[in-house]
Amino acid sequence: MKNDKKILLATPHMSGLEMAYIREAFDTNWIAPLGPNVTGFEQELCAYTGASYADALSSGTAAIHMGLMYLGVGKGDVVFCPSLTFSASANPIIYQGATPVFIDSERESWNMSPQALEKAFDKYPHPKAIVVVNLYGQSADYDRIKAIADAHGVPILEDAAESLGATYKGKQTGTIGAVGIYSFNGNKIITTSGGGMLVANEKCVVDKVTFWATQAKENAPYYQHKEIGYNYRMSNVVAGIGRGQLKVLDQRIAKKKYIFEYYKEAFRDLDELEMMPIAPYGEPNYWLSCATINPECEVRPKALLDYLAAKNIEGRAIWKPMHLQPVFKGSPFFNHNPEEPSVSEDIFSRGLCLPSDTKMTDADLDRIATRINWFFGAASSRY
Ligand SMILES: Cc1ncc(COP(=O)(O)O)c(C=O)c1O
Repeated sequence: MKNDKKILLATPHMSGLEMAYIREAFDTNWIAPLGPNVTGFEQELCAYTGASYADALSSGTAAIHMGLMYLGVGKGDVVFCPSLTFSASANPIIYQGATPVFIDSERESWNMSPQALEKAFDKYPHPKAIVVVNLYGQSADYDRIKAIADAHGVPILEDAAESLGATYKGKQTGTIGAVGIYSFNGNKIITTSGGGMLVANEKCVVDKVTFWATQAKENAPYYQHKEIGYNYRMSNVVAGIGRGQLKVLDQRIAKKKYIFEYYKEAFRDLDELEMMPIAPYGEPNYWLSCATINPECEVRPKALLDYLAAKNIEGRAIWKPMHLQPVFKGSPFFNHNPEEPSVSEDIFSRGLCLPSDTKMTDADLDRIATRINWFFGAASSRY
């Protein structure tokens, strides 16, 4: 088989509709922060997700930071956070001088384990907030998580950075917690080159976040500051990219699902590899197609990733759990089942992300599937 062009994990996929918004920003000289594209992007994202209010920010990380501040997280507080996630879910907890307590995953969705969450409450009954992540584009199990959170009166910050457009029991992810956030980073399902959005159902949330995100300038005839501010707002040019991207979000989700289903079918007879589970309660956006190598197989993900890299195909390791990260060494961690090895560690040790770029053709997908089948020595007549 020919080793032609490089296949990447997930790259920006412009629709062509973005330029009209960008051109308008240039034509009207509305380049600087704020402007009609920012307001338009916020309103259009609300219309898509059903959120009442939105605040376009410079990144998903900034949105988490602002969300935690709004929920009152400060020095000495405890915040629960899933361990199996990208570090940006947890870093803002530290920005606020609080302590992250990491929660293991459940097998059904790889997201926060309600069982481990309950155990964490036994030891830390008064966390200030719970960050819940919808990993790789799939919703966490909110009915179970919210029941526990509500029983303790603790708000949820929903990190939907990876899950824009995914649903939980028909409701858009990002709109389920007290505050939700999305990311438009370069590898996300839609991108603005970099950016984020905070959403909430109460106006007071976005009013306060807008205030902090624009340097906390008081309403006065001179520069007056009573609080520490941040420069976190999205620019009018960047928001124009977002408006064009949002128009094709449904197309991107459909293609991501197609990619996942393609892999599932291609590896149906492969005993060594299993696609990530899809929980019955929702519809993911299939941001990244992930898989695990079965425990009986001796092969480690790195060997498969190295093999694919040598064939010009980019995959990635699964997020390394936060409780294993040197920077979070010593942070408390609650195992899904203390009698068994941690679920997040197990997924990390056996999992990988397969190329999920929406610009891939069937020929690209066939090339990847063929290589993986060959790697496991399972070449059938089809491959
Ligand atoms: C789960 C998760 N949370 C937060 C972020 C941070 O978003 P951003 O890169 O826009 O700051 C990302 C992605 O980058 C993410 O995957």
